[in-house]
Amino acid sequence: MKISNWPCLLMPTFWWNLSSPAGYPPQTVTCPSGPLTRSASTGLNPNESSYMESRYAVAKENLRTYLNSAKLEDFNVDGFLMDANPTIGLAFSGGGYRAQLVGAGEYAALDSRTCVTNGVGLGGILQSSNYIAGLSGGAWLVGSLVSNNLFTIDNMLSQDILWNTSNSVLDFYDNLLETLEMWVLIALQVESKEDEGFSVSITDFWGRALSYQQLAFFPHEGAGFSFPKVMEVPVYRDFYAPFPILVADGREPNTTIVNLNSTVFELTPFELGSGDPSLESFVQVQYLGSELDGGFPSGRCVNGFDNAGFFIGTSSSLFNEILITINQEYIPVFLQDIIEEVLINPFEKLNVDVAHYSPNPFYVSGQNGNMSSPIEASETLFLVDGGEDGQNVPLVPLLRRNLSAVFAFDNSADENNWPDGTALISTYERQFTPQGGDIAFPYVPGQSTFINLGLTSKPTFFGCDASNLTSLTADIYNVPVVIYIANRAFSFSSNTSTFQLEYSIPERNAMITNGFEVASRMNGTLDEEWAACVGCAIIRREQERMNMVQTEQCKKCFQEYCWNGTVYETS
Ligand SMILES: *[C@@H]1O[C@H](CO)[C@@H](O)[C@H](O)[C@H]1NC(C)=O
Ligand SMILES: *[C@@H]1O[C@H](CO)[C@@H](O)[C@H](O)[C@H]1NC(C)=O
Ligand SMILES: *[C@@H]1O[C@H](CO)[C@@H](O)[C@H](O)[C@H]1NC(C)=O
Ligand SMILES: *[C@@H]1O[C@H](CO)[C@@H](O)[C@H](O)[C@H]1NC(C)=O
Ligand SMILES: *[C@@H]1O[C@H](CO)[C@@H](O)[C@H](O)[C@H]1NC(C)=O
Ligand SMILES: *[C@@H]1O[C@H](CO)[C@@H](O)[C@H](O)[C@H]1NC(C)=O
Ligand SMILES: *[C@@H]1O[C@H](CO)[C@@H](O)[C@H](O)[C@H]1NC(C)=O
Ligand SMILES: *[C@@H]1O[C@H](CO)[C@@H](O)[C@H](O)[C@H]1NC(C)=O
Ligand SMILES: *[C@@H]1O[C@H](CO)[C@@H](O)[C@H](O)[C@H]1NC(C)=O
Ligand SMILES: *[C@@H]1O[C@H](CO)[C@@H](O)[C@H](O)[C@H]1NC(C)=O
Repeated sequence: MKISNWPCLLMPTFWWNLSSPAGYPPQTVTCPSGPLTRSASTGLNPNESSYMESRYAVAKENLRTYLNSAKLEDFNVDGFLMDANPTIGLAFSGGGYRAQLVGAGEYAALDSRTCVTNGVGLGGILQSSNYIAGLSGGAWLVGSLVSNNLFTIDNMLSQDILWNTSNSVLDFYDNLLETLEMWVLIALQVESKEDEGFSVSITDFWGRALSYQQLAFFPHEGAGFSFPKVMEVPVYRDFYAPFPILVADGREPNTTIVNLNSTVFELTPFELGSGDPSLESFVQVQYLGSELDGGFPSGRCVNGFDNAGFFIGTSSSLFNEILITINQEYIPVFLQDIIEEVLINPFEKLNVDVAHYSPNPFYVSGQNGNMSSPIEASETLFLVDGGEDGQNVPLVPLLRRNLSAVFAFDNSADENNWPDGTALISTYERQFTPQGGDIAFPYVPGQSTFINLGLTSKPTFFGCDASNLTSLTADIYNVPVVIYIANRAFSFSSNTSTFQLEYSIPERNAMITNGFEVASRMNGTLDEEWAACVGCAIIRREQERMNMVQTEQCKKCFQEYCWNGTVYETS
């Protein structure tokens, strides 16, 4: 199967005609009265809830269509959906371009608009989903898709501006002069943010450079495109698209993090923050960069700090390293000097991978509170790549939203640049620590069982029986069935290095095609019932909640795809 053989390539329908300021630096605005943060204990952000309410009505109709076409046997779709409300989340892992491109093929397999999958793969799952989350390379994918009106992969293939990976972003144009011009512009943009009094970091340069590929259609490559504007593109105005969430980790200066003590931050078009015990607070993204104390404005207020490329760069700040380590020859000398200057500060040198959110929106001064959390005591909020805590699939925000089923697309580089389950294991283990104590995740085995039982060589469902989760939580029906889909080779060895920054266009397309094959079980040829089996996983929690028995077909599917608790560890 070759992408060039795909039956139809649609005309592009990218969305970039938004009025947005050309500038990168935030602008001063009048401070609103009242607090700009809220406690996580108040539940979901009200704007997110209101979007989801309308979105769910649309998603449910699309799920009806999917289930009807998936050939579920002896199952009355309409009768079931009368009482049941299944919800779906999609999670795309980190892993640089490998994760973005394989993830793009997986996304194409879920998209009913993809010509190749109509009636064959999992087309319609995207249209039925409530949430789409991405981290690091997965955040490039999700950030680019949602900013550009949720384009189809067919759309992307029919143009040559967006996702042009033939040169690395460091050396983006064939013509050195043009590359130089790009870096001069970026340097001016970042400097103008600094001139406005903001602390900048390598992430600012990185986020701007990434935008040349990911937000290529926007005026000034998205220099003035704020992430909240995503909610104004047609697919969001029409409630057609799942709600986007990017993930980053909080890291205090001069420390390392592991999954057991990280603070997992969600970046949405409405809010940034974390429900983890170390913070339990969210701030309105539109007012990031404003001076707040205890959530209330205490000085200048700004808009425009919430640049979409900066968010995508924050989630992938691991790649800041490349700006200062490899391929230096492409970075013009003057920019090297600027970066050197940033790095003269010993703190910066030790924390190159950190994005600065300063002033810290969660700052609480002594007089206003208690400074119970180190995050609240710091004048700057430091965020790093969402995969740095080992949870390389962005599951935590989805687990907090009580979904019925979550697709975990794992394109991590664990062993030979293939995944071995480490991302899921990290999230599983976290629930037994104070930071993760309020989030239940189904049982998973260790890495060698993942490999020995072939749980990465074909899709595997975890948490198939809610009744087996009682030792983890009382809310067993709020724990999703996890549909784990790991990168593996079909038509292409898609285990490229995380730090491979150039893909020729044929290589890029081969990565995408392989991702399509991973998620569609080789275009449906490995299992004709694959679409039905995915349907069985999506309806499972609601069936259990309503005390309904599984159909014979679904029982067979679960026999085939569920991890049944067998452990086969070797050292
Ligand atoms: C995928 O399968 C469908 C139906 O079997 C077939 O029509 C289509 O050509 C296949 N596409 C590719 C690219 O193999
Ligand atoms: C969120 O909802 C409130 C109340 O409906 C509204 O005033 C506000 O503009 C919304 N914010 C965004 C970013 O949509
Ligand atoms: C991608 O960018 C390169 C370098 O600017 C250019 O030569 C090429 O034509 C672009 N498009 C494609 C499809 O490679
Ligand atoms: C997190 O845990 C790691 C490993 O145990 C430790 O090195 C680090 O100091 C901890 N960081 C914080 C902020 O507690
Ligand atoms: C972090 O380490 C650097 C270099 O040792 C030091 O200058 C800085 O004060 C430290 N920062 C904090 C917050 O401990
Ligand atoms: C800070 O919190 C602790 C524990 O919750 C409480 O005992 C103390 O009174 C608080 N201090 C202030 C100044 O609010
Ligand atoms: C998830 O379920 C828990 C427990 O029933 C509930 O407290 C929480 O509000 C729910 N969260 C969402 C986002 O629905
Ligand atoms: C890809 O995986 C194969 C084994 O499956 C290994 O031999 C090869 O070195 C890997 N390639 C990379 C770039 O890691
Ligand atoms: C559980 O899975 C293992 C390995 O995949 C298999 O050998 C075994 O027969 C299964 N057990 C049951 C009860 O299905
Ligand atoms: C069922 O729960 C037990 C712990 O009670 C656990 O060891 C086992 O792995 C679980 N089985 C599955 C299939 O999740």
